[in-house]
Amino acid sequence: MPKNSSRSNEANSTRALDPASKPDDKVDHALRPQKLNDLIGQDQVKENLSILIEAAKHRGEALDHVLFYGPPGLGKTTLAHVLGNEMGVNVKVTAGPAIERAGDLAAILTNLRAGDILFIDEVHRLGRAVEEVLYPAMEDFALDIVIGKGPSARSIRLKLPKFTVVGATTRLALVTAPLRARFGAVYRLDYYGLQAMQQIVARASGMLKVAADESGISEVARRARGTPRIALRLLRRVRDFAQVRADGVITQQVAKEALDLLQVDPLGLDDVDRRVLKTIIEKYNGGPVGLNTIAASISEEQDTIMDVVEPYLLQLGFLDRTPQGRVATKSAYEHLGLEYVEAGQARLL
Ligand SMILES: Nc1ncnc2c1ncn2[C@@H]1O[C@H](COP(=O)(O)OP(=O)(O)OP(=O)(O)O)[C@@H](O)[C@H]1O
Ligand SMILES: [Mg+2]
Repeated sequence: MPKNSSRSNEANSTRALDPASKPDDKVDHALRPQKLNDLIGQDQVKENLSILIEAAKHRGEALDHVLFYGPPGLGKTTLAHVLGNEMGVNVKVTAGPAIERAGDLAAILTNLRAGDILFIDEVHRLGRAVEEVLYPAMEDFALDIVIGKGPSARSIRLKLPKFTVVGATTRLALVTAPLRARFGAVYRLDYYGLQAMQQIVARASGMLKVAADESGISEVARRARGTPRIALRLLRRVRDFAQVRADGVITQQVAKEALDLLQVDPLGLDDVDRRVLKTIIEKYNGGPVGLNTIAASISEEQDTIMDVVEPYLLQLGFLDRTPQGRVATKSAYEHLGLEYVEAGQARLL
């Protein structure tokens, strides 16, 4: 994987809250919802997808190309597999950075069967030459191959079976306009609300046979920053804590103690989130300050801040994005226990 990968911290991440780190997705495989009806939350996306699926089935056609975007850990990959299950077709999985040359994509495309889904994760990281092969493949189900070199070179067009591209990205803005235009359906995944998170944690504790009461489940759900992947990870850490430090049952008190120990605060912020806010407030008087400056100040990757930290802080209303840079809001000061001084120096209370 290239050095500038936004997932370069995958192997060695120690953040309990890093939704981009997914070593435990293998463990979670059994927990992955298989059908649209097993999926909790994202009601609007689900409803739209069910129409898409039913219409395609009714016509006996392949699904339209679908693009999912949104922060990591919200279910893009899960949805791609759900689409495969609902349509009863194969899902071939690949990722933008994995398709290095146009020939690699041609090999994948010629192996697809009618109706198959080609899931391309991190679709914003496809190379230029590869994208150009993808355009006619998506639009006309055709593969243009150039034979020979120089003046005698000619191009022949191979017909491909009608297949479906399901793309996923955390950065819609980096998906090129021509590629985006070829997706018939584009869906944004949002952070899950508390009720959906509670259901997700309850479902997982049932399947993992974790002893937890309702208030314990709520506490884990509340601190999982609206992200199923994080909820599942926190649940496992809290279960360990309950086993070792309590009588094995996850109560609200047990969950609180375990999560405090993991430095996950009541709103689900972790150490990195707090460092970002504190840097803006204490070093740059509340902002505005550029993202690259923040990243450099706390020695974190800019990608992590953009994909993971910033969207959640924006959602909480702790951060504002202005043309001059990021600004910490009054609620951010309050959450950190800092006195709000507009355009002034913040002091610890
Ligand atoms: N709606 C849901 N209900 C229950 N569990 C879910 C739901 N969505 C996701 N999950 C669980 O959360 C985990 C992460 O989901 P998934 O891998 O699909 O996220 P993603 O959006 O593809 O993340 P990334 O951008 O990092 O690839 C999975 O293990 C899955 O079991
Ligand atoms: Mg994924």
